[in-house]
Amino acid sequence: MKTEDVKKIAMIGAGDMGHGIAASFLLGGYTVILRDIKQEFVDRGVNGIKMSLGKFRDKEKITPAAHDDCLSRLIPMVDLQEAVKDADFIIEAVPEILDLKRSVFAEIDKYAPAHAVLASNTSNMSITDIAAATGRPDKVIGYHFFNPAVLMKLVEVIKGAESSDESIQIGYDLAAKVGKVPVIVKKDSPGFVYNRINQPTGALLNKVLEAGSPTPEEFDAAFKAMMPMGPFELIDYVGIDIACHGLEYFAEVMSADYTPCDAMRALIDAGNLGKKTGRGFYDWSQGRPEIDLSKATSEYDLNHMVALQVNEACKVLDEGVCDDPAEIDLAMTNGGGSPFGPFALAQSIGYPLLVEKLEDLYQKFRLEIFKPVKTMLDGNIKV
Ligand code: CAA
Repeated sequence: MKTEDVKKIAMIGAGDMGHGIAASFLLGGYTVILRDIKQEFVDRGVNGIKMSLGKFRDKEKITPAAHDDCLSRLIPMVDLQEAVKDADFIIEAVPEILDLKRSVFAEIDKYAPAHAVLASNTSNMSITDIAAATGRPDKVIGYHFFNPAVLMKLVEVIKGAESSDESIQIGYDLAAKVGKVPVIVKKDSPGFVYNRINQPTGALLNKVLEAGSPTPEEFDAAFKAMMPMGPFELIDYVGIDIACHGLEYFAEVMSADYTPCDAMRALIDAGNLGKKTGRGFYDWSQGRPEIDLSKATSEYDLNHMVALQVNEACKVLDEGVCDDPAEIDLAMTNGGGSPFGPFALAQSIGYPLLVEKLEDLYQKFRLEIFKPVKTMLDGNIKV
């Protein structure tokens, strides 16, 4: 199959990510089937799409005719067999549970046309493991979008051990065609590029939470002016459950340093998952939380966060997950709200200061993952 032959996209999972991805393909001119296991989940996804497209129309980013045309190409349904039976490109965004993803892929494989490419929006998990549940591992790729998917540009196109070059190319071309910025991830490795590079920051937030000081608001207030969202606010926005899953997965496959603390688990047990439940670290019942900038902690600054990112980006480079520093920076600027990638920042801030910041964090928390690696200490990466 060639990219031009792709006419119909099936989106399996209509949650936060599923509806945003579906909206992106509708805006790109494709017919999109949106499927979830219950009608109420499908309806919620359709409403999410209507909300996003409605915002674009009201702000004159699309015409009323384009808005209506997008919605006319949306086909909601519950029946999986029917959803995939004549789809050319199928994207899965079901909860981050490996066994669930594998069983969904096995079922899709049973009903989808032989030519169809199967793509997983997993945030962290092995594409090779997911592909092994199908009889077509060459046609399975990773396809990782960022929240809110309708706005964020990055799509990581991840090569599993058996993904064919053709499947990767189709995924890459499709993402570019719908206005996204695709980056190919060459090695199937936990968290791929973006989440891997941000995971040590997750470990730091986890430790700050465990210590109980500074509070999420005091912490966020120190960063809010420099980022579209405070770091804890962003976890609330994405979902504390999602962030905790990420930490648990990293704790299992990378290092126990990532183990989520009791305070994070307690929030989840109490059903306080962030924006989607109205409460997490912040109260979201009245919309985005107000963060009082006067409460900013002086214990942490932006260079601590940059240092953690650059150090992990060096590991990503050393391991060949992505072998081009400029591509890593491209991924990091398009997945979130940062205008500069880690290597560009390291070049302008200077590696020695960032190494000092890592040593400061290591002294404080004694986490091995915070130790500067050789490429970081050498400080020679240029973009
Ligand atoms: N659909 C359509 N439009 C939307 C929207 C949506 N879902 N959400 C926000 N918007 C629009 C708003 O209407 C607004 O439009 P205008 O500029 O035309 O007024 C614009 O986006 C900005 O929105 P807000 O004013 O409400 O707030 P903001 O300026 O803070 O922007 C944001 C919102 C784009 C989400 C921004 O805060 C941001 O970039 N945050 C960081 C997001 C991020 O880092 N995402 C990555 C998370 S990690 C991840 O996703 C990995 C994973 O595996 C889970």
